[in-house]
Parts: sequence; C-alpha cells; structure tokens
Amino acid sequence: ARKIIIDTDPGQDDAVAILLALASPELEVVAITAVAGNVPLALTQRNARIVCELAGRPDVPVHAGCDAPMSRPLLTAEHVHGGTGLDGVEIVEPRMPLAEGHAVDAIIEAVRAAPGEITLCPLGPLTNIGTALERAPDIAQKIAAIVLMGGAYFEVGNITPAAEFNIYVDPEAAAAVFASGIPITVLPLDVTHKVLTTKARIDRFRGLGKVGETVAAWTDFFERFDVAKYGSAGAPLHDPCVIAWLLKPELFSGREVNVEIETLSELTRGMTVADWWGVTDRKKNALFLGDVDADGFFELLTERLARL
Ligand code: BDR
Ligand code: CA
Repeated sequence: ARKIIIDTDPGQDDAVAILLALASPELEVVAITAVAGNVPLALTQRNARIVCELAGRPDVPVHAGCDAPMSRPLLTAEHVHGGTGLDGVEIVEPRMPLAEGHAVDAIIEAVRAAPGEITLCPLGPLTNIGTALERAPDIAQKIAAIVLMGGAYFEVGNITPAAEFNIYVDPEAAAAVFASGIPITVLPLDVTHKVLTTKARIDRFRGLGKVGETVAAWTDFFERFDVAKYGSAGAPLHDPCVIAWLLKPELFSGREVNVEIETLSELTRGMTVADWWGVTDRKKNALFLGDVDADGFFELLTERLARL
C-alpha cells in the first residue's frame, strides 16, 4: 500500500477525505497531522480524532501541529464549517489520545525513516509542511510526492476574489512548498467546484449505516453556505478529491505547469499564479488538475464509505 500522511484542518470535507483514505486498502495512513485552518488547532486535532474513531481506527496516530501560520495571524472559516468545524452532527469528545510529539517533528521523523516512500496529503493551510521544510531541508529529497487541495486558476478565489482559502491563510508556507522541488499534484477549485453534493448523491450516503448517516449530516450542513450564497446545486466536496486522485487518477485531467504563490500583494495575496498557457519559461513544478468525472468520483466515494 502507498504510505500517506494526511495533514488536515477538519472541516467536514477534510473528515470525508480521512474516511475515504481509511476505507481504502491501497493506502496506508501512517499518521494524521492537524493544523490550524478552518477552526483553531484545539478543534482540528480533536476533530481528526473524532473521525478516526468513527472509522473504527483509534490506532492511527493523530499529532497536533502549528496553531498559526508561519508569519501571519490565523484566519478561520467558521462561516463555512460552523463553530466546531464539524457542525451537522452532535459532537462527542473522542476517547483516543493525541499522539506524542509535534506534527512537524512527526512528519520529519516519518520521512527520514522511510525515504522516498511517503506521500504528503495536505488538506488545509500548508503551515506544518512549510515549517518542516524550513527546519529540515533534507526531507525535500525524501518526500515521494505532495498531493494537495488548494489554489485555483479559472475559478480564481473563494476567500478573496484572487485566492483559495488554504493558500491564502499561509501563503509563505505555500510558497516554500511550491519552491521545494518535490513532485506536486494540485487539486484546485477548478476541480473541486465540479464535485457537488447534490441531494441525490447525499441520499445515497444515508443508506450506508452510521458512517454514511454522519457524512450525509455533515454534507447537508456544509452545503448551506454555497447553495445559499452562490445558488449552486450543492457544496463542493474539496478535500476528498486528493484521496480520490490517489485511488483513481484516471477520473481527473490537468496540465504540468509552473505555479508561483503571491505573497507580497494585499489585493492578490495567496493567488496561485499558474502558467496554464505556457507563456513563461519558468520551470514546471506541479501537475495542476482542471477537470474531473464527478459521477465517477461519487461512485468511488459511496462504494468506499459502504466498507466502513
Ligand atoms: C478548502 O478550505 C477549507 O474550507 C476546506 O476544508 C478546503 O480544504 C477549500 O477552499
Ligand atoms: Ca481542509
């Protein structure tokens, strides 16, 4: 199985991504590392443990990481995810403890112990990864790949007109990741805005027992924001796209491009400047995905959730 570390700020869509990974025998979840993002760290690390317990996997180590971006104050997204980050279901405190050690140290140690074997899957701001690269530059050579949810090109922004939330919150960390030379795959809003939780798709989750009911309740809650604000048919299920790409890359298509992160401007802070048309000679540093077979995605997700 492919070894992955999920770096995350749950978040209902992060939670579904974790469930999809834990349901999939092709993947070995070596650790889950929590970061501040959608809600503060105290909640994201707790939520990650709630999700492991829901999946019947209290053995997965969950480490708490950075509680604020590398050089800026934290910005959160309660307007999307609710005050707990997992609004939609009643929260029961998890029994499994946090794993010992800071998430950044856990990432560095895991990568050094298995050089070339670990794929990092960031689903939130890139603070833990950026900090690990700053503290231990040797790991860049030893990380197999990074597959992340973040950024946008044609879809532009969801937190400002120019930027997607995960990149906007910690643009310095994102810039460090894109400059690292590690092979990167990007699941931007261009993809995730096509993966919509319509009523018919949520109804299929409901028949799947406790896990499916919980996912249905989360996606029902999470849906309100986009449906009310943008009039779309459902909410974009962003973060599970990362795991779906690992499982079935043939559902997605995109281009190898150069991506640079805007860190200086206030107006366009956190913009993922992707050279989609190849108008510069900057080195290609990422596979930037643009399209997805949404029905195929929901087929895969529903089939996997049924296994939990
Ligand atoms: C990203 O921001 C968060 O709200 C979601 O969990 C996702 O990772 C989408 O912009
Ligand atoms: Ca997230």
